[in-house]
Amino acid sequence: MARQRKTTEKKTDKGTNSSSSNGSNYVETKAKPATGIFMFWKQIIGCTVLFIAVVFGYLGYLETRVITPFDSAKVVAKSGLDVPLLYWGSYRPGTYFGLKTRDANSLVNGLMWYFPRTLRPGGDGIRHWCEQNDNLSKYGWKKHDGYNFGVQEIIDGPFKLTTSFVKRPGGKHGGDWTARVEVDVLPEYASLKNEEAALLWYTALDEYTKGFIKPTNSATKITGVRGETSGLGQFVIKIFNISGVIENESFLSTEAPGLHLLKETVITNLRLMSSKPDGPKKIVLAGETQPLGGLEKREPNFIVTQIQGRVPFSIDIVYESGSFYDRPDTFAGESYTQALNWHSTRFGQKFENIFGLQKKGFKDDDIEFAQSTLSNTVGGIGYFFGASRVQSFYNAEPVYYWNAPLYTGVPSRSFFPRGFLWDEGFHGLLLSQWDLDMELDIISHWFDLMNAEGWIPREQILGVESLAKVPEQFVVQRNTNANPPTFFLTLRHIIENYEESLTGQRLELLERLYPRLQAWFSWFNATQKGTAPGSYIWKGRDPLTKRELNPKTLTSGLDDFPRASHPTEHERHIDLYCWIAMAADTMSKMSKLLKRDFFKYEQTANYLKDNKLMSQLHWSEYAESFADYGLHTDSVILKRPKPLPRSEHQNLELVRVTLKNPEYRLVDTTFGYVNIFPFLMRLVEPDSHALRKILTDIRNPELLWTEYGLRSLAPSSPLYMKRNTEHDPPYWRGQVWINVNYLAIGALNHYGEVEGPFRSQAREIYRELRANVMENVVRQYRKSGYVWEQYNDKTGEGSGCRPFTGWTALVVNIMGEKY
Ligand SMILES: *[C@@H]1O[C@H](CO)[C@@H](O)[C@H](O)[C@H]1NC(C)=O
Ligand SMILES: *[C@@H]1O[C@H](CO)[C@@H](O)[C@H](O)[C@H]1NC(C)=O
Ligand SMILES: *[C@@H]1O[C@H](CO)[C@@H](O)[C@H](O)[C@H]1NC(C)=O
Ligand SMILES: *[C@@H]1O[C@H](CO)[C@@H](O)[C@H](O)[C@H]1NC(C)=O
Repeated sequence: MARQRKTTEKKTDKGTNSSSSNGSNYVETKAKPATGIFMFWKQIIGCTVLFIAVVFGYLGYLETRVITPFDSAKVVAKSGLDVPLLYWGSYRPGTYFGLKTRDANSLVNGLMWYFPRTLRPGGDGIRHWCEQNDNLSKYGWKKHDGYNFGVQEIIDGPFKLTTSFVKRPGGKHGGDWTARVEVDVLPEYASLKNEEAALLWYTALDEYTKGFIKPTNSATKITGVRGETSGLGQFVIKIFNISGVIENESFLSTEAPGLHLLKETVITNLRLMSSKPDGPKKIVLAGETQPLGGLEKREPNFIVTQIQGRVPFSIDIVYESGSFYDRPDTFAGESYTQALNWHSTRFGQKFENIFGLQKKGFKDDDIEFAQSTLSNTVGGIGYFFGASRVQSFYNAEPVYYWNAPLYTGVPSRSFFPRGFLWDEGFHGLLLSQWDLDMELDIISHWFDLMNAEGWIPREQILGVESLAKVPEQFVVQRNTNANPPTFFLTLRHIIENYEESLTGQRLELLERLYPRLQAWFSWFNATQKGTAPGSYIWKGRDPLTKRELNPKTLTSGLDDFPRASHPTEHERHIDLYCWIAMAADTMSKMSKLLKRDFFKYEQTANYLKDNKLMSQLHWSEYAESFADYGLHTDSVILKRPKPLPRSEHQNLELVRVTLKNPEYRLVDTTFGYVNIFPFLMRLVEPDSHALRKILTDIRNPELLWTEYGLRSLAPSSPLYMKRNTEHDPPYWRGQVWINVNYLAIGALNHYGEVEGPFRSQAREIYRELRANVMENVVRQYRKSGYVWEQYNDKTGEGSGCRPFTGWTALVVNIMGEKY
């Protein structure tokens, strides 16, 4: 079903973005001198009509402003076929294995599989999208360079699948590639050799792809595909059995209702068949079919080949581009194996050159862990296309943003397979080490999603596949809501580590980025300003909620970290203050790099970095720590209301009860990540009492210190590990998070290097914390097969979702000491 997507590009006069000057332009009209009473009334009516028109025009303007793109050259200068090396890729991180191009409406390829013996009615047991419920004991890329190749291992019960791909440049349409799928049993399940497995390779068209696909089947060969699209030109896809026994092959060629319903389409087209009337039955695909109720013959947009074999066996899927004339051989079998090995070796060398883990004395299996974790960051990059749904104060209903592409990493292939603004800044700290240009391209795509206000929506749900994974209530993005501006952290990291490589095209890219950075900074600086001079506040907390023990601050990224109990406009948040100070500092550095006027940014940075102002707004003498400020009481509890007499609802939901009146104060009975932000952002002065106190506090096992890293909230805090509502378990209320630990380790490294009385204390804690974090993440990976969203502060066990190779992958930077 095609949605009506409206893009309203409203150009403002002379390219200015100021709403007030624009609004008044409509009012300047030539007034004629009034002659007589008639003219007078005519004028009054005219003016009224004009006034109404202006009001409506202005309201219309305000309504569309949220979906008006920022008015300056796009930062992404080259895309699609203009970047042939990045054209094809594993840009469908939400599937176990899928390939597509960096095109708006790409042809997609992918894998599904199942084991006939354990396939349950309704298709339960068919693997396609990464789902936690599939209960796979492990899956992820072992190696992936982001350009040429990738190798992934998937452990499904007693079976092991290895999926890999290698690209081969040639011709004018992004070249060829070959994908290999190998199925085997794990050594400890050798008795299951010869068990049946079914691999389904599919090719599908997006509903807007221009072109066609057709099955190619002859009696002697496995069914493949031929086709043509506007981006790819002509192509063929051939499938070869490479090893083992293939028992049966069948195919499906049909019209699927959409890319989000491919598995469902397969399920409705599986048939039980046997060659002899009472012979053994096989599950086969239905061949060429038409969707039910169709009258005229429809062209297929979905072709699947099912190959059933006895484990172990392997197949190669060979994609050949029509404009590639002089390929030396069919890229399969031995020639594929050689190419894969060659790329794997190069990957290992590049990895060592960058992170130097061998040189640092890490063991082979630790290096393998690190390579795999980096590969999951790189292999987690997707290419999405679509329009967000957004809403501003002036829209009665959510409206569609413009259709746009997004090249981005994802936090978790199973649980969050889409772009998140503040996660992406953290991903960039690792990815820029691996490939600076890849990271700059990602940053460029994100900033092209900026609207005329300087706002970037924080969660990007683009395309039907992404949408299918998000509950309806989380789809709409509001333009009042911020999210930590972590891209400034990435850019600071890039300038500090790679300034000498920022030349030529990279510098030109930064030039195009600059006006958007300015607008982004201004948006934060203006919209999230607090009432006290120099203070900042996360907008969007709900002051009216009765269910939440402490109203959430989703925008801060630290969802349920306890803040002032009663949200008001007068509160101020120390973490946001520090984000803005860091952002101003980065803007000042960026302006200097680009030889622009840096004065304003340096001034703001110095103003905010001034520890006197910070202390005046946020330092608690009583607790000797930095803290939020607001209308607060600790005396709140969740309580089950008494059912009303004769009410049917005997079990009413818990509500919050406030036992003591809140008052304006520092929220200094709480201690956790938020309170150490001046340290995390390296703002607290090296010789200050505050630094000494923070170093002592983070090292204190009764506060933040654990053997697994720093916990998010001290056990002494009133809301430590408390549920926020009946349905919301604690999230940032004690668990160990690796992104913040990375910032802490980086800050310790910093304070261990700069002059100051606490240098050796910082160095000491640096060594311990770095070891604790690395060792636990690796230990849990060995134990569970995954890298996790967060870790339990008492046991070190992984919790939240898995795999979460988003910012937890920063452990690779920690191993390589890249800050
Ligand atoms: C996966 O494991 C969970 C808990 O261990 C269980 O509830 C669920 O049914 C399992 N799912 C499948 C598909 O086996
Ligand atoms: C592929 O399958 C055919 C027919 O089953 C068989 O003859 C051939 O040897 C197989 N090729 C490989 C490389 O296993
Ligand atoms: C696959 O199995 C089905 C059912 O046993 C049979 O009808 C069909 O001919 C087989 N196809 C091939 C290619 O072996
Ligand atoms: C940020 O906002 C403050 C006012 O709240 C202003 O004084 C300062 O100049 C702004 N900084 C920049 C760089 O725009």
